[in-house]
Amino acid sequence: MSNYSPKTFYVILGIFFISFGINAQKLITIPIETSQNALVFQTDKDNRLGTVFFGKKLAQSSDYGFITKEYKINDENSGIFNSVYTPSGTWNMVEPAIEVKHADGNSSLELKYVSHEVKKIDDNVSETVIVLKDPVYALEVRLFYKVYYKENVIEQWSVIKHQEAKNITLQKYASANLYFMADDYYLNHYHGGWAKEMKPEETKLTAGIKTLDSKLGTRANLFQPPTFMLSFDKPATEDAGKVLLGTLAWSGNFKIDFELDTYHNLRLLAGINSHASEYSLASNQDFKTPSFIFTFSENGKGEASRNMHNWARKYRILDGEGSRLTLLNNWEATYFDFDEPKLTKLFKDGKKLGVDMFLLDDGWFANKYPRNGDAAGLGDWQENRKKLPNGIGYLVKEATKAGIKFGIWVEPEMVNPKSELYEKHLDWVIREPQRPEHYFRNQLPLDLSNPEVQDFVYGVIDNLFTKNPEIAFIKWDCNAVVYNAHSAYLEKKGLPQTHLYVEYVRGLYKVLEKIRAKYPKVPMMLCSGGGGRVDYEALKYFTEFWVSDNTDPLERVFMQWEYSYFYPAIAQCNHITDWSKVGIKYRTDVAMMGKMGYDIVVSHLSEKELEFSQQALANYKRISDVVWHGDLYRLKNPWENPYASLMFSNATQDHAVMFSYLTTNRYDGVYSVTPVKLKGLDPKKKYKIQEINVYPDTKSSIAKDLVYSGDYLMTIGLNPNITLRRTSVVLELTEVK
Ligand code: DGJ
Repeated sequence: MSNYSPKTFYVILGIFFISFGINAQKLITIPIETSQNALVFQTDKDNRLGTVFFGKKLAQSSDYGFITKEYKINDENSGIFNSVYTPSGTWNMVEPAIEVKHADGNSSLELKYVSHEVKKIDDNVSETVIVLKDPVYALEVRLFYKVYYKENVIEQWSVIKHQEAKNITLQKYASANLYFMADDYYLNHYHGGWAKEMKPEETKLTAGIKTLDSKLGTRANLFQPPTFMLSFDKPATEDAGKVLLGTLAWSGNFKIDFELDTYHNLRLLAGINSHASEYSLASNQDFKTPSFIFTFSENGKGEASRNMHNWARKYRILDGEGSRLTLLNNWEATYFDFDEPKLTKLFKDGKKLGVDMFLLDDGWFANKYPRNGDAAGLGDWQENRKKLPNGIGYLVKEATKAGIKFGIWVEPEMVNPKSELYEKHLDWVIREPQRPEHYFRNQLPLDLSNPEVQDFVYGVIDNLFTKNPEIAFIKWDCNAVVYNAHSAYLEKKGLPQTHLYVEYVRGLYKVLEKIRAKYPKVPMMLCSGGGGRVDYEALKYFTEFWVSDNTDPLERVFMQWEYSYFYPAIAQCNHITDWSKVGIKYRTDVAMMGKMGYDIVVSHLSEKELEFSQQALANYKRISDVVWHGDLYRLKNPWENPYASLMFSNATQDHAVMFSYLTTNRYDGVYSVTPVKLKGLDPKKKYKIQEINVYPDTKSSIAKDLVYSGDYLMTIGLNPNITLRRTSVVLELTEVK
């Protein structure tokens, strides 16, 4: 001690006490772990809860307690804290997760850690609930993290509640507020429009905020879906790199912000879009946000997407592990122009083709303003007497006679101004009474915040099933966005108009819930003038979704490829249509990588085309178990190669299917110049390889009775021989013992 001057001594003593003080305070560490990954939270000295780690989990979870010592991010003066749910109006200077105006008009909020508990739901699923409270105002936020351990998926949401004297106003209410620390961040997100859904774009995130959002209301995904992939350090590839795959389960306006802060750390905020959506919350009322669902892999996008598929099939999509019906749809075959004789002929055609079901599309209803085009009749759900004098019941009987099931199209959320419904219930329509109406496809959405409208929409489905219990399938369409967002119902009730976007979606879920309570199993397709609405909340009620109205198979290779990162093949409806003049084989092979269906005039098929299609349907029956329930491996990316290759392998690795599609026609030659390495096989097993869907009178260039080991196929590969004359190739691999 005598070696130190008194000044130095006190400095050392001071440092000792500061560090002792920090160490002595009991910081709470909350690790949320899946089988591979961990999301770790820790309190700070002020009892705020921050994210301290996200990534591959540590062998010893007690080690997470040391992490904060390594990070110096909570600079008192910067206004940046790695908060798990960033409040606003106090110390925070960055994008908040929550903004409120208290009952007394004050706008400040602080959230301190209060408690947490972990509930075990079963051997695989657990739920961590964290309670945060404002020390000044009686407001609490509960954060929920539902962990699907084996699938490496976390579903998170929040519940906001208060006990203030009067209503408070929620100005922002995110579902998730994550925090990442990496060298760099690459965001793979999507944009598009009608017939051009899911166009990918990868962006290196730079300082500031990058936002993905929608303000369209009903058909919320039309321009941009709430799905993305976020790579850490460098762009992830199919089989390498750290990547988070995330999506918001909400069928309405959303907002996802990626804020790169001054420390080069990334803040993610995802939730309902608060644009025009301030929410007035009564005392003791829960405000539950939608779920943000995410998975993470250290081994690239392929593994991340398989995590998501495994989770979605098992826990989310209605009947996700079940089977699906192949179908013949009449939309592109007839549009609005049909009658009973025409349809009964189509039933027979469907049977001849070999599909399970006939799906009657738009145009079967309305009398005062017949639905003979898209400008009239929507909302009047009575059979059109001219086209269908004997009603739907007769069609169901005729279909049954023909040996085929019967499904039907509805668009129950919408109304044409030229309809009896509009004449009778103008107050049910979303419209701004003082302004001219503005239409999207000549129609307007009904106001689903209104319980009477909910009953009406439910009634459309219930009446169909009550009168015709044999109906085997529903296609639920939604073709308009919300313009002039105004609700006569909310006005009558004295509720703020800013509740409309939220209550619309909640109303929709109430209807779907009621439908599923009475009709738990009937398959339903989620359609929105193509792929304008698909998310993991809606898919609780739907078995599948319509990818896009664009059924050009070349376009579909790319779209289906992109959708496949987020949704498993069993949920993606791919129809063979006459949209493009490409040969039937290519169209069929492309449709087969998902849930296959047809929308063609069967009688226009040549003898060979029909023979090919019948054979293809028989093949599909045999391989559909692998496509619907197997693991998807992407082999050759069409954005980087002149062809796409992908395969599905079943859980026992004894049956697999490989699809390859040429995506260019620039010159004649062999495009697959080298073998394609397969994935997901058992190296020790031997596989017989057989080309299927071979067009009548053509020969496969793949040798008959070819048998290779899984080891060979995954190390050396297999050449599908893609050329301008072999533009699509389907290979079936079956284990030989
Ligand atoms: C849009 C859908 O995407 C089509 O498949 C078809 O059902 C039409 N609507 C019918 O109006």
